[in-house]
Amino acid sequence: MSLYLVTGGAGFVGSYLVRFLLDKGESVRVLDNFSTGKRENLDEVSSRVDLVEGDLNDPEAVAKAVRGVDFVLHEAAIPSVPRSIEKPMESHEANATGTLMLLQAAQAAGVGRLVYASSSSVYGANPELPKVETMRTQPLSPYAVAKLTAEHYCMVFHKLYGLETVALRYFNVFGPRQDPNSPYSGVVSRFIDAIVSDTPPTIHGDGEQTRDFTYVDNVAHANFAACHEAAAAGGVYNIGCQKRISVNELWNTMAELSGRHLEPKREPARSGDVPHSLADISAARRDLGLDPKIGVRDGLEKTLSFYIPSPQ
Ligand code: UD1
Repeated sequence: MSLYLVTGGAGFVGSYLVRFLLDKGESVRVLDNFSTGKRENLDEVSSRVDLVEGDLNDPEAVAKAVRGVDFVLHEAAIPSVPRSIEKPMESHEANATGTLMLLQAAQAAGVGRLVYASSSSVYGANPELPKVETMRTQPLSPYAVAKLTAEHYCMVFHKLYGLETVALRYFNVFGPRQDPNSPYSGVVSRFIDAIVSDTPPTIHGDGEQTRDFTYVDNVAHANFAACHEAAAAGGVYNIGCQKRISVNELWNTMAELSGRHLEPKREPARSGDVPHSLADISAARRDLGLDPKIGVRDGLEKTLSFYIPSPQ
């Protein structure tokens, strides 16, 4: 049994990872400041989790959180491209400086490996598809800049200080417990909110922008493999399904699966929005042995049934 620290363990991806690890019989500690994470995300598992409440930028909290830890899964972040455009400094402090603080503490504590939740947003304006890890990054938002900066810090800590790090570039993750209640929430959770509240969803732009939507369980398997596969140390990997659908197709699928055929409201395209996104996952297949088990349609069914226990 190993001890895993999940930063942002009360958030959407983090709380899924906590359950995944507990199911495997591992020991889990969570570091969360509950800025975007929620206590109720850990409700049924809280008695089995060691919770350190604190901020990534609080050296004492971080030092306490990494003590005795074998693996760090670093999910804590302030997500959202539009939020970062409104508040770039907030995004930088949480996503870039916060990661540097964690890396220093993990290095000092002798952590075995740190797996960092990076983002497909780092590819930004680069028009080539699919996205390959060696491709030039062209961030389009402060969020993407901060995520890429932190990724570079991870690689430098590996090269200079010998701390094993792995960066996973998540491609539009969705699933249960993704907060639907903010205008900054991911599109799948916004569409679920529309279905549950029976109000029209909003589609930005013509809806023909595409994403490689990735069910959260695939991300959990990727994190576990990234901790344990020797070849992964110092690597950067796309985590997606290597399939893309448009936002219009996403809505049509969700409408069909839920039986709620609401007419979407059309709004202007968001600034900083990436037109198309698709992962090349050859590197993750090769080094992490990954083969995404749950495709977008199955993932959407699972997510819908979490919010609507018996969809029509
Ligand atoms: C981006 C990153 C993703 C990262 C996430 C963090 C890319 C390709 N992806 O996601 O890796 O994890 O930020 O927040 O850069 N939309 C609607 N209606 C809505 C909400 C969104 O039409 O109600 C549209 C958006 O304009 C966008 C798409 O849906 O084109 C996806 O938006 P969202 O779910 O917010 O994620 P990204 O910004 O793509």
